[in-house]
Amino acid sequence: MNQYHAEPYKIKMVEPIKKTTKKERKTLLKNAGYNPFSLRSKDVYIDLLTDSGTGAMSQEQWGALMRGDEAYAGSHSFYRLESVVKHITQYDYFIPSHQGRGAEQVVLPEFVTHDDMVFISNTHFDTTRAHVEIAGATAIDCATPEAFDTSTYHPFKGNFDTQKLKKLIETHGKENVAGVILTITNNSAGGQPVSLKNLKATAQIAMDNNIPVIIDGARFSENAYFIKTREEGYADSDILDIARETFALADVFLMSAKKDGLVNMGGIIAINNDETLYKNVRSRLVPMEGFPTYGGMIGRDIDALAVGLKEGMDVDYLAHRIDQVRYLGDQLRHAGIPIQYPTGGHAVFVDCKAFAPHIPYHQFPAQSVVNELYLESGVRAVEIGSLLLGRDPKTNETVDTPLQFMRLTIPRRTYTQNHMDVVAEGVKRVYSKREQLKGLTFEYEPPVLRHFTATLKYVE
Ligand code: F0G
Repeated sequence: MNQYHAEPYKIKMVEPIKKTTKKERKTLLKNAGYNPFSLRSKDVYIDLLTDSGTGAMSQEQWGALMRGDEAYAGSHSFYRLESVVKHITQYDYFIPSHQGRGAEQVVLPEFVTHDDMVFISNTHFDTTRAHVEIAGATAIDCATPEAFDTSTYHPFKGNFDTQKLKKLIETHGKENVAGVILTITNNSAGGQPVSLKNLKATAQIAMDNNIPVIIDGARFSENAYFIKTREEGYADSDILDIARETFALADVFLMSAKKDGLVNMGGIIAINNDETLYKNVRSRLVPMEGFPTYGGMIGRDIDALAVGLKEGMDVDYLAHRIDQVRYLGDQLRHAGIPIQYPTGGHAVFVDCKAFAPHIPYHQFPAQSVVNELYLESGVRAVEIGSLLLGRDPKTNETVDTPLQFMRLTIPRRTYTQNHMDVVAEGVKRVYSKREQLKGLTFEYEPPVLRHFTATLKYVE
């Protein structure tokens, strides 16, 4: 019996990809400053940099593009997407934005009413953290301790630490907590899910303290699938019902639609009940993202999203999606390679602190593994560790973290199981010579979001 759910689709159009030689990749990587962000995609065989906007659209989505209404105001496309978003969330208001960070930049400042406010999240995604800080507040992460123990099984490593949350609210004073942000799934902790039990407990604490609850739900459907398959009492529930139970806990839903929306670009803001907040966000949106019925999106993309949101909740699609990630994770685990276990929704996170313990955090062990994987097999992964975290604003030192990950991020409906085998073989080859891996240091370090454009060199 096949242990993994196969693809519930067949392939109608293909995009050629090309292998390079190891010799070519040596030069290409050197020219990219030992930072794969600077590689051209044509020089990458299998691109696992991100699952954001990199998936394949369905025939229904391509068909929907033809219906796109490019009216500046009040387009059909807007109303079609609005009805889908309202159907799923059961919220009163919907506003599109060009992508997730577009939604963050117009919504988060609304909650910052005075100095010294904080947002508390299970883990803020980097752009969410950046927009919290731009709004003049501080972002505090409050992940469950299990998230940091990569090798021990826990079904919901994305959870909030609710005890810590209570203490944080007490320490900062409830009037200084601008919002509690539920990130589902918890990307930075390994694409790990959050249980409904934990979401409910967290929302209750926020409600008891009059603190707004915001869902950062880029991968809400994947989270719902994990609840269905791992949480007691939900095996017979539909993904839609689980999603609705989740949305019922919050005041606002922000979504980078480039993930579970199955589109290449787009974002969603949905607001429950609060008309004043809706009007304020709408006003802020106009100068930043555009008129409220397009919000930085193109009419045809809005239509593709209206279809993609529903497809993203299809249980057969999700079963295969989550299993493809698990399949890659299993290949690595069976070879003794340390990963965040169990695998999460959108990626396999390789624990590079354990993979290359001889490289200290400030020499970026995960970046060293990422580079070697590209050299070995032409696969592009991404570092999620101290290189990405940057420097502490107070001490100016590179931030240390126990989570030094190489993220192998799987685009949706894009690669086959054979591709996963190529990736696994590559990682195994790097693992077999892990003692020879060297640390890295900066040749050029940009002042903000340094990982994107930094150039690096090896420490001799
Ligand atoms: N929130 C989460 C949880 C995300 O993972 C992302 C993006 C965003 C917000 C921002 O959305 O990119 O549409 O502006 N994550 C991508 C990634 C970039 O690679 O994990 P965006």
